[in-house]
Amino acid sequence: MGSTGSFDGRFSDVRVLVIGSGAREHALCVALSSDPAVTALACAPGNAGTVRLAEARPVDVADPVAVAALAVDWAADLVVVGPEVPLVAGAADAVRDAGIACFGPSEQAAQLEGSKAFAKHVMTAAEVPTAQAWPVGGPAELETALDEAHQVSAGAPYVVKDDGLAAGKGVLVTQDRAAAVAHGQAVLGAGHAVLVEEYLDGPEVSLFALSDGTTVVPLLPAQDAKRRDDGDGGPNTGGMGAYAPLPWAPPGLVEEVLATVLQPTVTEMARRGEPFAGLLYAGLALTSRGVRVVEFNARFGDPETEVVLPLLETPLAGLLHAAATGTLADQPPLRWRDGAAVTVVVAASGYPERPRTGDPVTGAEGAGVLHAGTTAGPDGVVRSSGGRVLAVTAVGDDLAAARQAAYERVAGVRLADAHWRTDIALAAVEGRISPP
Ligand code: AMP
Ligand code: GLY
Repeated sequence: MGSTGSFDGRFSDVRVLVIGSGAREHALCVALSSDPAVTALACAPGNAGTVRLAEARPVDVADPVAVAALAVDWAADLVVVGPEVPLVAGAADAVRDAGIACFGPSEQAAQLEGSKAFAKHVMTAAEVPTAQAWPVGGPAELETALDEAHQVSAGAPYVVKDDGLAAGKGVLVTQDRAAAVAHGQAVLGAGHAVLVEEYLDGPEVSLFALSDGTTVVPLLPAQDAKRRDDGDGGPNTGGMGAYAPLPWAPPGLVEEVLATVLQPTVTEMARRGEPFAGLLYAGLALTSRGVRVVEFNARFGDPETEVVLPLLETPLAGLLHAAATGTLADQPPLRWRDGAAVTVVVAASGYPERPRTGDPVTGAEGAGVLHAGTTAGPDGVVRSSGGRVLAVTAVGDDLAAARQAAYERVAGVRLADAHWRTDIALAAVEGRISPP
């Protein structure tokens, strides 16, 4: 056991266990392994990239008992839960019940991400600006909800959402009424509730904040590219790339979102007796009517984490530990390096519908090449094992330099029939994004 929060007042000698296996977890491992306070690092189950920095341990991330047992067995001082699935299943509660500090909200608090309807209730209570929404319990209500939304949005596209975890793929935004109805019916047919929403125009921003349940510390704003294809075409995905910070962000944006969204949400969760400690991710639209929340997530975003963490100079483990132990207010202000970061997701052929897996991945050992869906076989060959295979990241003195460096790195990786967008951060570099 390390001397966390120790006798000499210094945070040191900590064993950190990261749960998850994506590029977000690889980015967390990169940041944590460069923190001098971290003496041992594991990532469970991890991937072919994390294993170079962190001990790999097998675990079923969806099983809170297994996660907690691993934390005890490995003698972790701090567990950092990456994905939403274990959080919504109660992994953070199980780890804390075992007496180990955990960065990640409780099962209850993770409902901010796990149920869009719950998130709407909290936002209403906290007076947080968001899209008007119509919950749909059955087929009869669907048409009425679409009619009302159409009226409120003044004829703008229909927004039809799966009210559960859908890895960013449960949302359909379309002008086509028949397609909106079909999507709603499909979600209902799968036994999930549906949410129809007012359409939000304007550029999107992802703003992450650390919370210990009371104190909220925002990170740098980022933007991800959700659609599969260049020019924002094709289906929604988990995210095809990202950049940070946002040269076009209006001055005072972070302070405004802290005051109108992040702090009121954390305060409302505490008032409900469900304090949110962990990473609160506000997905925002800067609309012509002001800032609106598109969604909350209860964890670091992926791929935005891959561009936010490389710019953070403050050692990460101490911050996450402070959030996990209610001591964020004692932390000095965050330090950021100048410049920008860009990440380009290299996806498997067929992503997002039917990604092909099992293809060899080469040239993926260099700096900045974060692994998402990769596995190293017993033969030592790294193979694709998920839809998003790599998140290729670079920092630079400005966004244009970071973008160029990231694409140079992409050119060095090999994956048969891989797909990536060629326009990540391009509109921002060219000054084509203007908030209202
Ligand atoms: P979500 O799963 O709620 O994050 O939605 C995924 C993506 O769908 C968002 O990042 C937006 O690009 C889009 N989207 C979701 N809700 C709306 C909305 N009310 N208006 C416009 N676009 C939306
Ligand atoms: N980048 C979107 C997400 O993490 O949900």
